[in-house]
Amino acid sequence: MAPGAPKLLLSDIVSHSHEVPSKYIRPASDRPDLSNVVNSSLQSIPIIDLKGLGGPDHQKIINAICSACTNDGFFMIINHGIPKAVVEGMLRVGREFFHLPESERMKMYSDDPMKANRLSTSFNVRTENVSNWRDFLRLHCYPLEKFLHEWPNNPSDFRQVVGEYSKHVRELALRLLEAISESLGLDKQHMVKAMGKHAQHMAINYYPPCPQPELTYGLPGHKDSNAITILLQDGVSGLQIMRDGKWVVVSPVEDAFIINIGDQMQALSNNRYKSVLHRAIVNSTSERVSIPTFYSPSPDAIIEPAKGLLGEDQPPVYRAFTYEEYFNMFWNKGLKSASCLDLFKQEQSEGS
Ligand code: OGA
Ligand code: NI
Repeated sequence: MAPGAPKLLLSDIVSHSHEVPSKYIRPASDRPDLSNVVNSSLQSIPIIDLKGLGGPDHQKIINAICSACTNDGFFMIINHGIPKAVVEGMLRVGREFFHLPESERMKMYSDDPMKANRLSTSFNVRTENVSNWRDFLRLHCYPLEKFLHEWPNNPSDFRQVVGEYSKHVRELALRLLEAISESLGLDKQHMVKAMGKHAQHMAINYYPPCPQPELTYGLPGHKDSNAITILLQDGVSGLQIMRDGKWVVVSPVEDAFIINIGDQMQALSNNRYKSVLHRAIVNSTSERVSIPTFYSPSPDAIIEPAKGLLGEDQPPVYRAFTYEEYFNMFWNKGLKSASCLDLFKQEQSEGS
């Protein structure tokens, strides 16, 4: 990039700054209000041990998944089967990428949300007024052969390590989709089939330390547009979820992934399972890396409530739509807390 060109990435703007630049400052009515957040491990999300899946404890685990998806929209999993070395490698190359010189990282930069593999900042710089305290590398991961050659090749083992990680995460996503189908009383393969040819996207989120975390967000409150999210994070806290009208801290647990229900699963389950608001807060001392995998339907998949969940008293809440239709709406709308799903309700009442 040309010397003296305006800097686009947050990590390059803020490295020597002691104040939040004005374009990151939220209006007073829309700040994190950090003194009003629930921070107690007792109030955090359920932890589900997947070790017994397929064994004698199978039904207990399925019931725990049902309860977590119904009540929390979020849960953690341990004994998920992804080797520790694979997970640590993923976090390492993710961090190393963001520590590369600016000129090297900028080779991946694009502000076009429709570009599959790209480095960008905030959420959607083309449409938003206030920026978020985040840079991110977004990668498409399935089918891997289709996208691997567009990924960064610096660090030199990036493609190998992230490719390996994404294959393991896909296996895990398929197991979770089977368990989720079963927990709804549906055929085990229901969700896998309902998602067409499937898609898997990953974000490597990089949140630099922020001199005034009370003025801005890493990511403001939002719901994920995909079916299920599998979130890996380093040891630094930042995720908060909405429960009973309050923001609740979800602190990292070693060797655990966080799973959450996205909008597509809410639609497919006819509102039985909830896509829940969550946000990322930044802090003044530590950088933070979080790596969500967004497991999604393919763009052409037709999303509609599972027939097996409908009845006289359970009419379909949503009309059928393609995931592509939804996805375009999601990115253009920006991260608004009102759910994008409301736009796809079966009978749209006035003003909804
Ligand atoms: C996301 C997200 C949470 C986090 O990228 O959609 O919710 O903790 N991230 O970074
Ligand atoms: Ni999210």
